[in-house]
Amino acid sequence: MKTPFLKIPQDYKITSQVHQSTYLVNGDLKPWKGDVAEIYSTISSTEAYQPTLLGTIPQLGEKEALEALDAACKAYDKGKGLWPTMKVIDRIACMEKFVDQMKTKRDEVVKLLMWEIGKTLPDSEKEFDRTVDYIYDTIEDYKQMDRDSAKFEKSGGVNAHIRRGPLGVVLCLGPYNYPLNETFCLLIPALIMGNTTIFKPAKLGVLLLSPLLEAFQNSFPIGVVNIVYGRGRVLATPIMESGKIDVLALIGNSTSANALHNKHPKKNRLRLVLGLEAKNPGIILPDADLDLAIEECLAGTLSFNGQRCTALKVLYVHEAIVDEFNSRFSARVDGMKLGNPWELGAKLTPLPEPGKPAYIKGLIDDAIEKGATILNEKGGEITDNYIFPAVLYPVTKEMNVFQEEQFGPVIPVVSFKDIEQPLDDMAESNYGQQVSLFGSDINTLSPLIDTLVNLVCRVNLNSSCQRGPDTYPFTGRKDSAFSTLSVHDALRSFSIRTFVASKDNDYNNAILGQILKEKTSNFISTDYIL
Ligand code: G3H
Repeated sequence: MKTPFLKIPQDYKITSQVHQSTYLVNGDLKPWKGDVAEIYSTISSTEAYQPTLLGTIPQLGEKEALEALDAACKAYDKGKGLWPTMKVIDRIACMEKFVDQMKTKRDEVVKLLMWEIGKTLPDSEKEFDRTVDYIYDTIEDYKQMDRDSAKFEKSGGVNAHIRRGPLGVVLCLGPYNYPLNETFCLLIPALIMGNTTIFKPAKLGVLLLSPLLEAFQNSFPIGVVNIVYGRGRVLATPIMESGKIDVLALIGNSTSANALHNKHPKKNRLRLVLGLEAKNPGIILPDADLDLAIEECLAGTLSFNGQRCTALKVLYVHEAIVDEFNSRFSARVDGMKLGNPWELGAKLTPLPEPGKPAYIKGLIDDAIEKGATILNEKGGEITDNYIFPAVLYPVTKEMNVFQEEQFGPVIPVVSFKDIEQPLDDMAESNYGQQVSLFGSDINTLSPLIDTLVNLVCRVNLNSSCQRGPDTYPFTGRKDSAFSTLSVHDALRSFSIRTFVASKDNDYNNAILGQILKEKTSNFISTDYIL
């Protein structure tokens, strides 16, 4: 199959490349004269296919990584730093300054999201807007948290003023599929709680941060946000080996999370905030509304080409309805439009990882060799930067596509007779993020729901799996996550309860009263932020 080529609208053409020639450390955008890495898009700008050069980023080394670490440690300054001791209202003001500037960069960031990772225009816009909303919601939640702690408690003759305090220095690593949103869902709560940070963008989806660097530089005190570019192994390894990191915040895969965790010499010091891989199943019961189930399974399996940790990565369909489901679902898959991200109605878009079509083809070939067939006509058609989603049936445990998190456009369908089969598979699986359950009889659904909530962390009833709305807890069992993220939970994950206690007597109470009256402490305060 030939990659279709349509003229690129003027607004979305790459008219100038982005050469990121600085990195942010200790409040400076430091010029970099050393090695650089070229960033290519798998989208072609010309009719004869060739990847498009988008720009370059620095390839920093161990020295620069440790320089960023030092800057973050200095800004935290053993808890004495300006940022961790700052009044909540002042930290919020810095965040508001940042988000005000961020909003002015929407068009630039959205365009780069499309080119760098191939996300559709509506989804790229949504990623940007959702991130801005996330920042505002975080600010509001933090204000509420602050109001809730603007008081003293008394128990057993001891007065206590309890708040949440920062943990220290955070190393933050985001994923390529949501390079803005998921990264900021770690970075923003980490920052607002008073931690200092070192942030390394993902390998893909990196240039889109360039328009935001100045805002980071001028919104926060020096050393609070440090941004480094280069290979994860080169930069993150010495940072972790130093033992000076207090929180590893990573959305990615468990292999890299475990490797970095193992580098830290003082594990009890290290908190983990991890969003990792998943293999969320869709379970379609015989009494399911098939129109609805097909619609939700399409979105669940193929939004952003299946490159979502929350994607439905295996469909279990009851044997009584599997034939009907397969033929209707396959026809709908073949009807999906493949195009560049800005093309109206494009639902399937180029895959940003050059090796991905071949990897997916490998999964398809392995499944076919072991007895599956491709149900849809276009399934497996390959172009320079894409492979059309294949609906594979019947899929068995022996196939790699059943075992691996494909993170791309291929849909394994397994038929089942006894509901114990998907339940056993889920219990055996290394993953435990979410499930989608399609059906209508409450006598069947209820006991199933009661079991499924103990195997995963979100049961989506007649709905595809997803992270949002961001106010809901986002987490997983087993290899799928560590800690919980939501607007509110993230603030908790990046902080710890810490308090001032004093025996309830006149002497102590007079001191506390004076501190409150004179407003000499940023921590002990009963002021309200409205
Ligand atoms: O990659 C995993 C994302 O958290 C999924 O988020 O369900 O909103 O697409 P989403």
